Amino acid sequence: MSLAIVYSRAALGMQAPLITVEVHLTKGLPAFNIVGLPETAVKESKDRVRSALVNSHFDFPICRITVNLAPADLPKEGSRFDLAIALGILAASKQLPQDTLQAYEFIGELALTGDLRAIRGVLPVVLHAHLALRQVVVPIHNEMEAALVKEASVFAATHLLEVCAHLKSITPLKRCEVVPTLLAHSEKHDLSDIKGQPHAKRALEIAAAGRHSVLFVGPPGTGKTMLASRLTSILPDMTDKEALEAASVVSISHTGFNADCWKKIPFRAPHHSASSIALVGGGRPPRPGEISLAHHGVLFLDELPEFSRHALECLREPLESGKITISRASFQAIFPAHFQLIAAMNPCPCGYANSATHTCHCTPEQIRRYLSRISGPLLNRIDMHMIVSPVSPHLLQTRGKFSEEPSLAVRLRVMKARGLQMARQMKYNSELTVPELEKYCHLTEDASKLLHEVMLKFNFSARVYHRLIKVARTIADLAAEVKIEERMIGEVLNFRYLDRLGS
Ligand SMILES: Nc1ncnc2c1ncn2[C@@H]1O[C@H](COP(=O)(O)OP(=O)(O)OP(=O)(O)O)[C@@H](O)[C@H]1O
Ligand SMILES: [Mg+2]
Repeated sequence: MSLAIVYSRAALGMQAPLITVEVHLTKGLPAFNIVGLPETAVKESKDRVRSALVNSHFDFPICRITVNLAPADLPKEGSRFDLAIALGILAASKQLPQDTLQAYEFIGELALTGDLRAIRGVLPVVLHAHLALRQVVVPIHNEMEAALVKEASVFAATHLLEVCAHLKSITPLKRCEVVPTLLAHSEKHDLSDIKGQPHAKRALEIAAAGRHSVLFVGPPGTGKTMLASRLTSILPDMTDKEALEAASVVSISHTGFNADCWKKIPFRAPHHSASSIALVGGGRPPRPGEISLAHHGVLFLDELPEFSRHALECLREPLESGKITISRASFQAIFPAHFQLIAAMNPCPCGYANSATHTCHCTPEQIRRYLSRISGPLLNRIDMHMIVSPVSPHLLQTRGKFSEEPSLAVRLRVMKARGLQMARQMKYNSELTVPELEKYCHLTEDASKLLHEVMLKFNFSARVYHRLIKVARTIADLAAEVKIEERMIGEVLNFRYLDRLGS
């Protein structure tokens, strides 16, 4: 037989569509063609595969070789099909039994020596191959990543010859297993590093408990960046499912999988010069942006008004839907983006508006223009915004960490409040829909009256109204109260600083 079929997988966003590698050998002038929309790196496969086969002491068939990567209409990138193409040629030229190939999927780049090199995006490949009930062979450098899918049957190889020995049942390959060093990560920052700032810390706790987005506004050097960087230290550990989803995004990103970050809550802090593509993803092939790399974690936008207007506007859709769809003429890629937004900014260009210690030199028009860089709709989507004032020198001089509450204590309260939310509604308070708000957020009579007065006084929009109730629900959960009380509505009002500024 001069036809062989081998399975592999392409990368398309978070998907890993099946690619059937068909290799056909026919009589004729020696030629080696790859068809099926291959990109440049796939075309270069020809030279790598030829050298790898020759250097592994196989016969390279002297005939007409046609390799078809099906389906033809799916763009294919990278060197990931090298191994499958080489095995297809060996099977078609009867140097390898054809029947054993069907139970496997192969992924990996070949060096000219026949060694296997790591590729990006192995995790989605293994997940999909497992669903298709096939075993997978991956390069040894991708072993740790592949082993994360515990139920899948994955083998790791260092060389083409090892894969052939396995398929011929001479020397079985090593099964990938979870390496015990892949332990949950411990945080190095602690909330107790921050002196004073009880209101900001309380806001951080509420944000963590209900997964609310938060914006800190304050003069330079008051600890806004410091506060934001402590958010992950009070969040509960990621579940295995969440960690696997987050690792899958990193696996297909430009950095690739990093075993050191396994189960570490993502904390992405892109610089304000980031383009909208860097922020939300895109390019060709499509790669996830910062919002997807922050999936199940935190996206921190420091100096919020300095981000380009377009980049910020791109956040509106994923903030509501938890995903981003990148549509181009030839493909559509969907990346998950279920992140918690935390942002920081100064109140005016000089940073000292309303400061008790410094004089602000900005004109009202400059301040208005500065604040208007953040659009109303985006601001509407931020659950909490609050002012962070400077700490007193006396507080800064207190030594030791003992006077401040450590992250662990706050984290326990956050976990308790999250537990209540899951038991009641199976989602975080920030994700409640309008009918669910009516079902789960009951106010006492006094609270209801206060909220009515506040709405009239500040002329809040319907979205702000719903956000107020969601944050109040989280405050009630932290206090383990069934109903939202008047004092809770009062506290929530502290977290609408910019709305009150505009009214
Ligand atoms: N409450 C605090 N406790 C201890 N150190 C603090 C506190 N607030 C500020 N600092 C110190 O000030 C430094 C600057 O803080 P940070 O970068 O968080 O300020 P910021 O509010 O983000 O300022 P900017 O508006 O300029 O970005 C910190 O690295 C820390 O040394
Ligand atoms: Mg800062």
